[in-house]
Amino acid sequence: MELRLEGKTALVTGASSGLGWRFAGTLAAAGARVALAARRTERLAALAAEIERAGGRAHALAMDVTDVASVRAGVAAAEAALGPLDVLVNNSGVSVTKRAGEIEEADYDFMMDTNAKGAFFVAQAVGRSMIAAKRPGRIVNIASSAGLRVLGQLSVYCMSKAAVIQMTRALALEWGRYGINVNALCPGYIETEMNRDYWQTDGGRKLVATLPRRRVGQPADLDGLLLLLASEQSGFVNGAAIAADDGLSL
Ligand SMILES: NC(=O)c1ccc[n+]([C@@H]2O[C@H](COP(=O)([O-])OP(=O)(O)OC[C@H]3O[C@@H](n4cnc5c(N)ncnc54)[C@H](OP(=O)(O)O)[C@@H]3O)[C@@H](O)[C@H]2O)c1
Repeated sequence: MELRLEGKTALVTGASSGLGWRFAGTLAAAGARVALAARRTERLAALAAEIERAGGRAHALAMDVTDVASVRAGVAAAEAALGPLDVLVNNSGVSVTKRAGEIEEADYDFMMDTNAKGAFFVAQAVGRSMIAAKRPGRIVNIASSAGLRVLGQLSVYCMSKAAVIQMTRALALEWGRYGINVNALCPGYIETEMNRDYWQTDGGRKLVATLPRRRVGQPADLDGLLLLLASEQSGFVNGAAIAADDGLSL
């Protein structure tokens, strides 16, 4: 069975790089119209052009997920441009690698405001719209293996991603009755701008040597799970946190 999204409209936050860039292209290639959100709008315009050159439909819009007014305006702009949303990929996120004793208040706020608060208000804005329109939908929250287990020097990042997983369960329980499925996709180590330099360091190379397949994942490794959670074929999957991490969270 092929997972297709023809006639669906999706919003991807954090589409200006890394996983979000890939997710947006993957959804568009499956037939969805895709709204692309982030702060670096010049990058989103480049991605929108790439998607349209490939025959898809995309719309770029500015959104700062730490600013609730910006989130609400962005969701409204996405729907004005492409129609009511059927799918949200709630992907914007940041990390700071430091030992717990060295975390500054600003580091804490940066991660929690983006990863936990930001993800909540994006999901809320999209969920409200789906419920008001009486349309079923799919919300895919991009959590992390770091929400399922503890990773070194990432205490607050782990806390923020555990919050995303608990948020996923809470929203799934509240919104399942409206036909809105809310799930968390939990990637392991995937090479993106967030971590690319690290894999070239001694520490990075040592870590890769401990991984089951001795390799870091690539964004394309998440395509299948993303499409499943975004599609109608995942109708009975709700409130799940599914790892795509080659066993890292075990
Ligand atoms: N790469 C991994 O190994 C890995 C593993 C597990 C989970 N994840 C999660 O996957 C998601 C994507 O990460 P990535 O690896 O693709 O990192 P990335 O390449 O650094 O991309 C992060 C994205 O988040 C956006 N973003 C950051 N702050 C934002 C804000 N305030 N408002 C709106 N957008 C914001 C950035 O866009 P702008 O800067 O343009 O706003 C960018 O598009 C994150 O939630 C991350 O925690 C990544």
